[in-house]
Amino acid sequence: MSRAHVLVLPFPAQGHVNPLMDLSHELAKHDIKITFVNTDFINKQIMEAEATRNEDKEQVGSDQIQMVSIPDGIEQEEDRNRWEILIESIWQVMPMKLEQLIQEISEKSENEKISCVVADAAMGWALEVAEKMGIHRATFLSTSAAVLALCFSIPKLLDDGIIDDDGTPTKDQIIHLAPNMPAMRTKHFPWAQMGAGLNAQKLVFNCMMRNNAAEIAEWAICNSAHELEPSAFAYAPNILPIGPLQASKSNHVDHLAGSFWREDSTCLNWLDQQPDKSVIYVAFGSFTIFDLLQLQELALGLELSNKPFLWVVRSDINNGAVNAFLKEFEDRLCSHGKVVGWAPQQKVLTHPSIACFLSHCGWNSTIEGVINGVPFLSWPYFADQFLNETYICDIWKVGLRLNRDNGIISQEEITFKIKQLLNDEGLRARASELKEKVIDNVKDGGSSNKNLKNLVDWIKA
Ligand code: UDX
Repeated sequence: MSRAHVLVLPFPAQGHVNPLMDLSHELAKHDIKITFVNTDFINKQIMEAEATRNEDKEQVGSDQIQMVSIPDGIEQEEDRNRWEILIESIWQVMPMKLEQLIQEISEKSENEKISCVVADAAMGWALEVAEKMGIHRATFLSTSAAVLALCFSIPKLLDDGIIDDDGTPTKDQIIHLAPNMPAMRTKHFPWAQMGAGLNAQKLVFNCMMRNNAAEIAEWAICNSAHELEPSAFAYAPNILPIGPLQASKSNHVDHLAGSFWREDSTCLNWLDQQPDKSVIYVAFGSFTIFDLLQLQELALGLELSNKPFLWVVRSDINNGAVNAFLKEFEDRLCSHGKVVGWAPQQKVLTHPSIACFLSHCGWNSTIEGVINGVPFLSWPYFADQFLNETYICDIWKVGLRLNRDNGIISQEEITFKIKQLLNDEGLRARASELKEKVIDNVKDGGSSNKNLKNLVDWIKA
C-alpha cells in the first residue's frame, strides 16, 4: 500500500521555513513522508548552516523529510532582497518547476506519489498546480489568523472605500473587522508596510488578492491557538489553529531546523552564567535593517540599562556599515552583554536567565516568547508585525511598546521601558498565565492537538 506523501512548500524566508519545518516534523511522527521544497538559493543556505551544527546530536525526522529544491528564477545579478523582484519571479517561474518536480516524483515510484500539497499562504499558486494535478491541498499561514481574516476582508475593504485598488488606505484610521477583532490601523495593513515603495506594496497586495481568489484549499491551517485569537477564529471559522508548533517539540532532540545562518551556541554558556530572570534578549528576526543612528541608540540604551543583554546582530543588518561601531562597543562591554550573529532563539527563550524579549514582533518570535512566558518590549518593523504588537501590548497585555520620536527609538526610551518592564510584576504574571493556557492547546485533548490529528487522518485517508 502506498504511504501518505506530503509536499511542503514555504515562501523563501526564514520566518516561513521555520514553522513549516516544525509542521513537517509533526507530520513525520505519524509516518507521513515529507518532501520539503525550498528554492535552490535557500536550500544551499540551509545546507551550509546545517553542516556546521553538532554532528553528534540525534536528528529526528530527517530520514522521513527529504529536502529538495527548485529555482526561483532570479538571475545572479538581480537583488533577491527586493520584494518586487522576488515575488514576480516566483509567480513566473516556480509553478512550472513545481509541476515538473511532482511529475518526476510520481514517475519514480507509484507508491511514493505526492498525495497532498501543504503550501505557504504566500505561495497560493502552488494550490492551483496541485488542483490541476488532482492532488489534495492545504494552505498554511505563518502569520496570525487575524492577517488571513484581513485578507479575506479585502473585497469589503474595497467596497467600503477603506483602501484603493492598489491597497493604499484612503485615510489613516483605526478599524475593527468585527466588534471583538483587534483594532487595526489602516496605514499598518501588512501590504502597506513592506518598506519598499508603492511597487512592492502593489505586488504584495495583488499576491494576497490572488491567493484569496484561489479559494481552492481544502484546509486552511495556521501556527496559532484558539486562546490567542478567539475573535479571529470566530470571524473566519474555516481557519484552523494547529499551534503553537514550537511547543510540541522536545528541546532535548536536535531537529533538522532549517536555519539560514549558523547558530552561535556560545551564547547558551554565557546565559548559564547570568542570574535568573536578568537578561534582556534582543532580536529582530530575519529581515530587519537598521541605519547606523538607530543601531547606536539601541546599543547605548542597552548599555545604559545596566542589565545583562544578549543581542542578535545579523551580518546583513546594515550591510557592513556598523562593523567598526559594533567592534568598539563589544570591546567596551566585556561580559556585561553578548552580541551574536544568529542565536538558537528557541533555546535562548527557554533559558531561566531570560527576563524579557526586545522583539520586532515577527509572528514566530511572538509565539516563541509567549510559550516561554517571557514579557516583551515591542519594536515592530514591517508587514504583520504592527498587528502582532497590538496582540502583545493591548490584547494579551504581556508587553510594552517602544515609542518613536521623529522616527527614532531613543536610548532614553529604551532604558526607561526596560526599567518599567522589569518592575512590572503584573506583566510577568500575565505572561506566565498566557503561556500555560497556550501550551495546553498542543497537549492531548487540546484544540490545536485535535485539529492536527484530524489533519493527519485526512492526509492518510
Ligand atoms: C517574517 C515576519 O516578520 C513574520 O511576522 C511572518 O509571520 C514570517 O515572516 P521574520 O521577520 O523572520 O519573519 O520573524 P519571525 O516570524 O519572528 O521569524 C524569525 C525566526 O527566526 C524565528 O523562528 C526565530 O526563532 C528564528 N531566529 C531569529 C533564530 O533562530 N535566531 C535568531 O537569532 C533570530
